[in-house]
Amino acid sequence: MLDTPQSEQVRLPYFDYLLTALKEGNVAVERSFGRHVHWGYWERPKQASLTTEEFAQASEDLSSQVCLAGHIQNNQSVLDVGCGFGGTIAHINENYQGMSLVGVNLDERQLERAREIVKPVASNIIEFKQGNACALPLLDASFDVVLAVECIFHFPDREQFFKEAFRVLKPGGYLALSDFVPKPVLLPFTKIKLPQTVSDGFYGKCNILCGVEDYRQLAAKTNFAIQTERDITVNTLPTYRYLRRLSQQCRVSNVFALVETATAEVLSRLRLLMYYIYGFQKPK
Ligand SMILES: C[S@@+](CC[C@H](N)C(=O)[O-])C[C@H]1O[C@@H](n2cnc3c(N)ncnc32)[C@H](O)[C@@H]1O
Repeated sequence: MLDTPQSEQVRLPYFDYLLTALKEGNVAVERSFGRHVHWGYWERPKQASLTTEEFAQASEDLSSQVCLAGHIQNNQSVLDVGCGFGGTIAHINENYQGMSLVGVNLDERQLERAREIVKPVASNIIEFKQGNACALPLLDASFDVVLAVECIFHFPDREQFFKEAFRVLKPGGYLALSDFVPKPVLLPFTKIKLPQTVSDGFYGKCNILCGVEDYRQLAAKTNFAIQTERDITVNTLPTYRYLRRLSQQCRVSNVFALVETATAEVLSRLRLLMYYIYGFQKPK
């Protein structure tokens, strides 16, 4: 990492794996996670044939669904927090005009790739900035929409992120995000303290403690109105089978990667761990 102070670094072994695989020219990883790094949205989950092309489409479609929850329109300013390799910014760039787009990420290595692969078209402006979701290096009331696609569980503090999103949004602006949301019955188990090597495993620190009721309270506490609260778990399930195939193809032997993904799959299939898209509006 280049300019990131030690205290602000985030340890995400799965990104170390992806960056190495991309550098080595791993085509399967490039086509699956070279642009978006998220679970995807399978429009017809029962008919999924799990091709790489289908997964790429599902990845595109998740960004598209979060954009819908953010009510994105042409000629807006949009901030994508935890922007990864810039996939959602690229999606907006290719589908809207006159946009001012900013992607923020803690990890400068990911931003380097984003700057390389996402170039503005259609009178759009794009900037990728290093920064922490909980202390955004951005001005008050400067965005129409703030997005956080599948990353809020890594942030040090959800409430602080909501406050920051509220601060940088213009009145009437939207915050849209996707997240893994536990059923209340799962919550006591997620609080069990595991040894750090296990709890930080392959996906790094993930806080999946925010249930549907917690999101409602969080919105109320930070003065947002909930506009979208959508359970899309069923549209994410084929990804587990896709990942199993990909990890066999790429000979992934990292025990944490296999166990953590398998655990998430079991919990999701039992409907104990749900996947939601949320949209919140700042008052006008
Ligand atoms: C699962 S990836 C999602 C990436 C991207 N949103 C996408 O959908 O392709 C999670 C992202 O959150 C970023 N991240 C984690 N903690 C962060 C923080 N405190 N501030 C900003 N970004 C953070 C990671 O570096 C990573 O890019």
